[in-house]
Amino acid sequence: MPIFHRTALAQELATHILDDDLAPARSGLFLGARRRTGKSTFLQQDLCPELKRRGAIVIYADLWEERDQDPGDVIIEAIREELARHDSVVMRFARSAGMERVNMGGVAFTMDRVGLGKQVSLAKALAMLSDECQRMIVLIVDEAQHAITTDKGSNALYALKAARDKLNMGPHHGLRIVATGSNRDKLAMLVEWKDQAFFCAPMKEFPPLGVDYLNWICKRAPASAALKAGALSTLFERSGYRPEWMQIGLNALASRDNWIPEEAAAVFAEAIESRADSRIQNLLALIGLLSPLQSAVLRVLAAQGRRFVPFWNRTLETFRLVIEQDDGNDVDEPINVETVQQALDALKDKGFLWRSVHGVYALEELGIREALEEGRLLTESTQRVTLMGRQAA
Ligand SMILES: Nc1ncnc2c1ncn2[C@@H]1O[C@H](COP(=O)(O)OP(=O)(O)OP(=O)(O)O)[C@@H](O)[C@H]1O
Ligand SMILES: [Mg+2]
Repeated sequence: MPIFHRTALAQELATHILDDDLAPARSGLFLGARRRTGKSTFLQQDLCPELKRRGAIVIYADLWEERDQDPGDVIIEAIREELARHDSVVMRFARSAGMERVNMGGVAFTMDRVGLGKQVSLAKALAMLSDECQRMIVLIVDEAQHAITTDKGSNALYALKAARDKLNMGPHHGLRIVATGSNRDKLAMLVEWKDQAFFCAPMKEFPPLGVDYLNWICKRAPASAALKAGALSTLFERSGYRPEWMQIGLNALASRDNWIPEEAAAVFAEAIESRADSRIQNLLALIGLLSPLQSAVLRVLAAQGRRFVPFWNRTLETFRLVIEQDDGNDVDEPINVETVQQALDALKDKGFLWRSVHGVYALEELGIREALEEGRLLTESTQRVTLMGRQAA
């Protein structure tokens, strides 16, 4: 599938990341954008090549792609892979581990000696790589919020902070850590909590694809369709800036040959609208299968976002109110810390929620909130704790 390259954005970000005088760049850079908006494609196809072109060593780890693996392992493995590419670095490790005759004695320095609590720490390994190659290292952690869902992932982030502090001082050549995430609430935890590895790192909105991309889409449609970027922009906004949905429009034009030029825009739009509707209906159908308490917990969390405090008495009352008033159901199960915890666990297992190692919950993706909004399920009752909390303050 061809992609639209964002060269200017890659250049702008590369300058920001590599610039030695920009103090914030030294503490890393966080890019937030919604799901399926092209983050990984941009990082791999545009940003990594641009950073390499400017002489940096680039290490890329996508914590979402390898979902069955511990995020900490994904980060460590990406670093090991890069180290293994540099023979001179491997030789230096071997020597420092007392394996002078690494190739002759049949004893090799294997990369599993690098990692957390291992013979060679991540900071030491990255410093050696940077010194040996005399180049800056840029480590890109895609979907970084997953790192704080496990202890190992969290520890890997702390180790990276130590590495960053070490490499950005003294004789080394610098380490920049670029992180992306699809949920600002989650990413904010990495940046705003003072015990977190990236406290105070600048957070930037990763800009969605724009009008130049829509022009590119128009050119890929049959010429007789005469699509106009301006007319597609509302549709693109409605599709949450997801390129895949524009592709659905193009596919509809390609697969149907009975449209006349005047109808082309409508055929394109209809395909996208119908995809948007079915996505929301599917999500609402899944939500409809939840138990009354699970459903109430999900809606209250979605409505209250970062202000959600699951076990406050007031919140427990709100769950009851939602079940009784919004749903017209009797509350026939106890609502207490234990049952709410069970509901949260079930929602996490079903893929609705995300939980950090600290026990903070957030929606797994923003699309769930959108579906709840469209289904008019984020009622006044679901907001209730926030309002009372404000009054009490
Ligand atoms: N610049 C682009 N031009 C054309 N298609 C694109 C572009 N960027 C992304 N896409 C398409 O959009 C889809 C989602 O892209 P990608 O996986 O990069 O997004 P993402 O934001 O990383 O998603 P996720 O939230 O799942 O990690 C892919 O099918 C990809 O091919
Ligand atoms: Mg991605």
